[in-house]
Amino acid sequence: EKGEYRHFMLKEIYEQPRVIQATTEGRITQTRVLEQALGTKAGNLLENVRHVQIIACGTSYHAGMVARYWIEDLAGVPCSVEVASEFRYRKHVIQQDTLFLCISQSGETADTLAALRQAKKAGFRAAMAICNVPGSSLVRESDLVIMTQAGPEIGVASTKAFTTQLTALLIFTLALARHNGLDEEREAEIVQAIRMVPGQVEQMLALDGKIAEMSQSFMDKHHSLFLGRGAMFPVALEGALKLKEISYIHAEAYPAGELKHGPLALVDSEMPVVTVAPNNDLLEKLKSNLEEVRARGGQLFVFADQAAGVRGEEGLNVLEVPSVHAITAPIVYTVPLQLLSYHVAVLKGTDVDQPRNLAKSVTVE
Ligand code: M6R
Repeated sequence: EKGEYRHFMLKEIYEQPRVIQATTEGRITQTRVLEQALGTKAGNLLENVRHVQIIACGTSYHAGMVARYWIEDLAGVPCSVEVASEFRYRKHVIQQDTLFLCISQSGETADTLAALRQAKKAGFRAAMAICNVPGSSLVRESDLVIMTQAGPEIGVASTKAFTTQLTALLIFTLALARHNGLDEEREAEIVQAIRMVPGQVEQMLALDGKIAEMSQSFMDKHHSLFLGRGAMFPVALEGALKLKEISYIHAEAYPAGELKHGPLALVDSEMPVVTVAPNNDLLEKLKSNLEEVRARGGQLFVFADQAAGVRGEEGLNVLEVPSVHAITAPIVYTVPLQLLSYHVAVLKGTDVDQPRNLAKSVTVE
């Protein structure tokens, strides 16, 4: 039931602090990831993994893209990510000791299951799943499963499934990283950062009113650009997908460094450009990308760390957000983008929970 909320999507956005917390429950201590909590076989299966192949669709694919940054950064293990519908229809080379990781909210997405079944024939070390539905086909067909504890997601636009997938993926990354030389101190630092996420998401939710105000600038727009760098690039992709899906505004996401290679030509005063700017080592680079947009009259909407020193001025709308750890930033910064799409859709009067032409679970090709 929607309860006090106008739409399931809004309810599900607001459930995030609780379900993210539930996804960490029993899996981390104050300072460590509990590998046994990922399954009795986890230790064995994660030992000697030399490559991770992630397969997913849509929002779950974006979660996989974030995970690639984490896995290569923290575990030092090469990671490839591909959408299932591409992977399954091409000849592919499975490297030795590959962990095949499918991410799916429903566990019934036809392309993801087909990719898994096909890859099983080709042979790999183990099949792992990050999934939200117990007993789903994906769960039954995998060797190692981390369930997200998002609870039923009714809105077609995935919200809490995504942030709990990211939470599960980060915990998994730390477990894998421990087999690959991550030191205890760094593990403790990141575990502590994970423990802070529910509270930080709460703080993002408190910006709802300001985001609703911001959404008015998008109502009459037909196009928009989303920019991010590093692990925030998939967050931009996810933000753009949300906006397209429920408000029907064309939204494209780009890694900010690619602007000059084409999309900058689109920028004029009619083009809103949304950016997430956590205080990470790419901040200075991102700031110069923002300047490029502003110099062409583009309207910028930036969610920026309060310590990032991005100040609002003509053409630059800044919503300052609390400081978060660079590793967990993709989880926390997803939330304002969800709220932005939600409010734009409400203003446009679209069917937020059941957007046209879409189904919650894509069980046929
Ligand atoms: O159930 P799955 O996670 O496998 O679903 C994958 C996509 O169909 C899904 O994430 C879709 O992109 C959402 N509607 C996005 O909001």
